[in-house]
Amino acid sequence: MAKKIKNNVYWMGKVDWELRRFHGEEYSTDHGSTYNSYLVKEEKTVLIDTVWEPFSDEFMRELPHEIELNKIDAVIINHSEIDHSGAMADLMQYIPDVPVYCTPNGVKALKGHYHKNWNFVPVRTGDTLAIGNGKKLIFIEAAMLHWPDTMFTYLTGDNILFSNDAFGQHMATDKLFADRVDQSVLWEEEIKYYANILCPTAKLVDRKVKELRKMNLLIEMICTSHGACWRQNIEEVLAKYELWSNSYKENRITIVYDSMWGGTRAMAEAIAKGIRLADDDVDLIVHCLSKSDKNDVMTDIFRSKALLVGSPSHNKCLLSSVAAALEEVRGLGLTGKKAAAFGCYGWSGEAQARLSSILKDTGFDVVDEGMKNIWEPNNDILDACIEYGKAFALKV
Ligand code: FEO
Repeated sequence: MAKKIKNNVYWMGKVDWELRRFHGEEYSTDHGSTYNSYLVKEEKTVLIDTVWEPFSDEFMRELPHEIELNKIDAVIINHSEIDHSGAMADLMQYIPDVPVYCTPNGVKALKGHYHKNWNFVPVRTGDTLAIGNGKKLIFIEAAMLHWPDTMFTYLTGDNILFSNDAFGQHMATDKLFADRVDQSVLWEEEIKYYANILCPTAKLVDRKVKELRKMNLLIEMICTSHGACWRQNIEEVLAKYELWSNSYKENRITIVYDSMWGGTRAMAEAIAKGIRLADDDVDLIVHCLSKSDKNDVMTDIFRSKALLVGSPSHNKCLLSSVAAALEEVRGLGLTGKKAAAFGCYGWSGEAQARLSSILKDTGFDVVDEGMKNIWEPNNDILDACIEYGKAFALKV
């Protein structure tokens, strides 16, 4: 069911209350999500993005209630990923000759996904489409926010930026606007979304926000492709993205570890005690990597000024949960953070040096040699871990 956004602009999307995993199993969506499609009904009628493929039938049932399909003059695909283009195959059966506006990379990606030669109109930044009543759409390429094909579309007159993935959140809501939803969930999901999805291309995010500012567009609304749209706090949202894309850190230390028989866990907790003794204010987060949600872990690491990673040595290597988490961290491309490693071992003890090496290679400033302990930590070792935690807190 369409919902009015502003004047002749309608939300035409799908609220997915049920979703708990996104991007396959890669992203936890504890609060569900939405796939936002928009219908602009001026002298010309334009559809901006569609919905994820499993909801294509539902979308195609509802769209004709809002507009006769043969009255659609143009389809804009801001981003070809399946969660936004998923109803294209069904839709274009009814309107095969209608122009599909997207970036040149969008043409490649849509052809790659659907193997159809629709009436593509490749557009670049600054290209426009007049839609009547004195309004036009201005296209703005936004490569890597989130894929190479991504673009924004700006609607003059109503001053709406359709930003696709950027500035969104995975959060199911039928309230449309960010100012109408639970603010704690909104901002928790906003930063988690940035940390896990956009952080890997932070330099491009920063450049794009600055470019948007230079374009001097009056932005009264940001209509995202996931979650709630922004009609208030526009400047705050833009500023958050700039802040987050520049070596962001809070006064937070995250300790992550996994453990086979509890020795490395005991070290983690003793180090945490030491940090707290040295610094009563720092936010301290401890995650067991085989138990915590991966995306929550990444969000905490993104927010932290320093990271401690612990693994016992296992078959001369790291525990697989730790190795996998570090591979995920590498993908985020974090900068400006300090780190160190710790862990127990029984005989050869390779893990801790390996951790330090991976952390350096991943761009962390490894502040010391960390803590390494043979067999189960006794009280002396735990006391040493507390002392180590105190020293670490002062170094970061
Ligand atoms: Fe929401 Fe990159 O797709």
